[in-house]
Amino acid sequence: MSKAAPRNTARVLAGPPPSAGTESLKDHRARLGPMPQVRHQEDAVALLEASGLLGRGGAGFPVGKKWRSVAGHASGNAVVVVNGAESEPASSKDRTLMVARPQLILDGAQLAATAVGADEIVVYVGVEHTRARAAMAHAIAERASERSARRPTPIHLVEAPLGYVAGEASAAVHYINARDARPTNKPPRISEVGVRGRPTLVQNVESLAHAALIARHGAEWFRSAGQGQTRGTAVITVSGSVTRPGVREIDLGTTIAEVAAYAGGAREGLQAVLLGGYFGAWSDLAETWDMPLDPVAMRARNLSFGSGVVSFLPADACGVSATARIMAFMAGESAKQCGPCLYGLRAIADATQRLAIGGGRYDDLVRLERWSGQIAGRGACGLPDGAVAFFQSALRVFSAEFRLHQAARRCSHPRAWAGVA
Ligand SMILES: Cc1cc2nc3c(=O)[nH]c(=O)nc-3n(C[C@H](O)[C@H](O)[C@H](O)COP(=O)(O)O)c2cc1C
Ligand code: SF4
Repeated sequence: MSKAAPRNTARVLAGPPPSAGTESLKDHRARLGPMPQVRHQEDAVALLEASGLLGRGGAGFPVGKKWRSVAGHASGNAVVVVNGAESEPASSKDRTLMVARPQLILDGAQLAATAVGADEIVVYVGVEHTRARAAMAHAIAERASERSARRPTPIHLVEAPLGYVAGEASAAVHYINARDARPTNKPPRISEVGVRGRPTLVQNVESLAHAALIARHGAEWFRSAGQGQTRGTAVITVSGSVTRPGVREIDLGTTIAEVAAYAGGAREGLQAVLLGGYFGAWSDLAETWDMPLDPVAMRARNLSFGSGVVSFLPADACGVSATARIMAFMAGESAKQCGPCLYGLRAIADATQRLAIGGGRYDDLVRLERWSGQIAGRGACGLPDGAVAFFQSALRVFSAEFRLHQAARRCSHPRAWAGVA
């Protein structure tokens, strides 16, 4: 595997390193200047559409398109929810951004409020992310104490409860409304009926930070970073067997080899990489070492950029065991309101666990293949779809290992339980 020079452009993480702590409102304004006044809804929506920014919370939905949809349902009474739940276990980029650049996120939220016609902003931060929550609370207070000719949109903070589904958009809205973080059935869509029955935009914190820079520098500037079909930069979380794991900002289109080099290189032989997080997919490094991290191109290969997780699995770790651990987590995260999710994910997790420890039944693998095709699309939220897409990638990438575990009831790896974040 060749070593390559990393390509990266710090944009949302430009300025003092995240290790320097939280940038104050004064320092933020001194570094970037004031946020330009975008007075008309249409101007803000058109700007984001022209930028081509895709959401960074996992699904990669075009931000401008979402703003237009919410704006179409609102008449000045919409709500913007800033999603800082960061419930994905392998990701830490959102909390890094919240700790380091809370004012940039709030600039983006203010722009989104203008775009969709919102008179309220709710900042929704994972209860476990204590530093991020404190930084966002402080940033909100700094703004509230400012004397300003313009009446700012009121902002308040809500703690997101623990749990993977708590970060899902409809679960976030349900929690804000009724302190119950379970996803709700659609329709109605939250873009029409959301927080307190009002049209609601739920947007990831990183997406909003990019939007704030697009307002300052323009759509063309945003598009000048990145190569391939998706433009701009993205903040990613690199983990697993690399020398310097951590959060990095990369140009979209940077290859996996370059990401590994950026993180100090591999610590040992590598076999696979988990892309996109627990909702993403395994990929065989022999096939994807030189693949660009380009959300649009990845979708065409049945892979997902997701929330920007890149986690390297060492060559002597067992893919079946690493998969069993993630499936056990996913099954435990079911909000237990849809049968295929509750029972299906549990059955897949238990059979994978049996295979991993060498106690599989004679037909576990056949049943796993069948079950993994029967669950998608049958839950109220995307949890089961994400979990089985991830599981199917494991069946593909570790197919020899799964067969060995089934046939010989053993694992060929010396460090069976070593794995990813
Ligand atoms: C099970 C599940 C968990 C999710 N958790 C998060 C999360 O923690 N943070 C987040 O921004 N988006 C999360 N999402 C995606 C949100 O539903 C939503 O698409 C996102 O917040 C929209 O922001 P974006 O368009 O800027 O990406 C999750 C989705 C699912 C299905
Ligand atoms: S699909 Fe699963 S996690 Fe989603 S709402 Fe239904 S039971 Fe809950």
